[in-house]
Order: sequence, then C-alpha cells, then structure tokens
Amino acid sequence: MSVRRLADQQPDSFAFSKESEELVTFWLNKYPEAKKASAVIPMLWIAQKQEGWVSEPAIQHIANRLGMPRIRVYEVVTFYTMFNLAPAGEHLIQVCGTTPCWLRGADALKEVCASRIGKKGAVRPDGKFSWMEVECLGACSNAPMVQISNKDGDEYYEDLTAESLGALLDDLEAGKAIKAGPQNGRSCSAPEGEPKTLTDTSLYDGSAAKKIKLPNAANDRAPAGEADQKPTKAAKPVSKTKPTPPKLVKEAVAGGASPKLFDQPQGQKDDLTRIGGVGPKIEALLNEMGVFHYHQIASWTADEAAWVNARLKFKGRIERESWIAQAKTLSEAN
Ligand code: FES
Repeated sequence: MSVRRLADQQPDSFAFSKESEELVTFWLNKYPEAKKASAVIPMLWIAQKQEGWVSEPAIQHIANRLGMPRIRVYEVVTFYTMFNLAPAGEHLIQVCGTTPCWLRGADALKEVCASRIGKKGAVRPDGKFSWMEVECLGACSNAPMVQISNKDGDEYYEDLTAESLGALLDDLEAGKAIKAGPQNGRSCSAPEGEPKTLTDTSLYDGSAAKKIKLPNAANDRAPAGEADQKPTKAAKPVSKTKPTPPKLVKEAVAGGASPKLFDQPQGQKDDLTRIGGVGPKIEALLNEMGVFHYHQIASWTADEAAWVNARLKFKGRIERESWIAQAKTLSEAN
C-alpha cells in the first residue's frame, strides 16, 4: 500500500463535465482566492466520480485550476487510497486488510476476490469488477468488511464471510440491488444474537438508583430523591429592579380594600425580604402596616394589592414584581 504510482496508460486530456463544473464551482466558492488550494481533495474526488479514476491529465488540470505545483496534487492523490490511480471496474471492491479485519477473516475475502475477479488492482476483462486492499475503514467492530464503490455510491458491507461476500458478488453480477451494512443479520454494531451485557432491566426503570445524601448539603435541604415529598426552602427570587425605599402613608388613601392585617406576628414572623423587590426598609413598612407573613401577601386580591400599593406610594410595583406569586411559593415551601 505504501507505493502508489500513476497508471502506465493515460488519456490525452481531461476536462470536467458541465455537471462536475457546477460542483467544482460550489467548492471553489467556499475558499478565499488565496486559499483555493483547499479545494484540491474535493476536486480530485469530483474528477474520480466523473471518470472512475484520477488520470495524470486530471491531476495537471486540477493543479492549473488551483495554482498549485503538479507535484503537490500528485502527493495528495498518491497518499489517499480512496483515489484510484488506474481505471477501476464497474464495482470496485475494497477489502480492509488491517489487523482486526485480518484476524476476523480478511484473508478469506481476498481469496474470494482473487478467484472471482483476478489479480489485485486489475479490472476483470468484462469490466464488471476490480478489487484492492485498503487500510482500516473504521468499521472494525463489524470486521471483516469491504467497501464497494459503484455508480450508486460508496457503501460498507460488514460481518462478512467468504460465502456472504460471494453471494454479494453473485447479486452484483446479476444486476440485483444489494443491502449495505452487516451481512449476518445484526443491527449496526449491536451484539450478535441476544444482548449479553447490561441486561438488568432495573438499570433502565430507575429502581436501581440509590438515594444519596450529599456530604455538604445545607441542613434544610432534603436528601436526593425526597425532593418531591418534602418541600425545600425556596431560593430567594432575584429582582432586577433596585427598589426605592417608600414611605408609608398612614392617613386614609382612596382606592382598594384593606387586606387582613395583624397587630403583631402570628408566631414566628416570615422573612419578607425573600420576596424579590422587598428590601429591609419595605419589610419594616409592611410590618408597621400589619403584614408579617407570606400567607398574608399570598392571599391579597387585586383590590387589596391596590390598597397596599397606594399606602406605599407604589405604582403597580406589587404586580410588576409578582409579590403575590412569590409569596405563594414561599408560603407553600414554609
Ligand atoms: S480493521 Fe477493518 S475496518 Fe478497521
């Protein structure tokens, strides 16, 4: 595989077809003029798809188009085995001979190719087939495998035996369509037959998951897995607006209806500063007004909120900052 040379017999000239030119334009437009050499591999591939192989005139043509020395294009085309340096058969069989495929029977596949097609690299006299050996094609888990290139594309045929490769060649000879992928019935690279590992169904229904207690968890945090049974203390909602300290208007103010107020807290008073938009000064005013608990705020009607808004000289701030919804969340988590 290390020495790849151009074919002895070469055509006189090369030109991209109209369809190929459209593809070439597509690729050239991807790169700035000074970097157009980046299109060398796509252009070589387009030439190969058009002719079935990359001839010396094609190399020269591409070098001229890209402003590259011919030797640079030659280096690329001889490095990558995906480029055919000589005419190929209608179906080009590329047998992977790298270690995993070799250990799994690639030699037997090569024997099938040699007996059915002929010498490696040569095109069968009827032009139907040619074959070559390539390095790892990245499908080692489905070794041994071949890639077959023809007018329909480039497809992998995996998990092969001498018999199954022979059957594929029979179908191609007969002009029948063949199915790409594993030839032993398995799906992709799934285990052959029944699954042999990770078969415990509890791995998938959550029953095997163990509850854990986080070592540095806050005292008031429920152990993992119990969060849905025990409400945790809600995090303080974030307020984006900086509250301006208001003044409590003690005299009667028009509008709204007074909410339920207390002379003093009913037991432990709540930390109203956990409501986004309520700072220590507003909390003091609410307390002075007779509001000490989340559940008081959570129960405010629109009229009652308007009453509080008016006394704190707020203009709809309670609604804007969703105090009532926040208070409900905090009250439920209490
Ligand atoms: S070794 Fe054959 S596909 Fe990787």
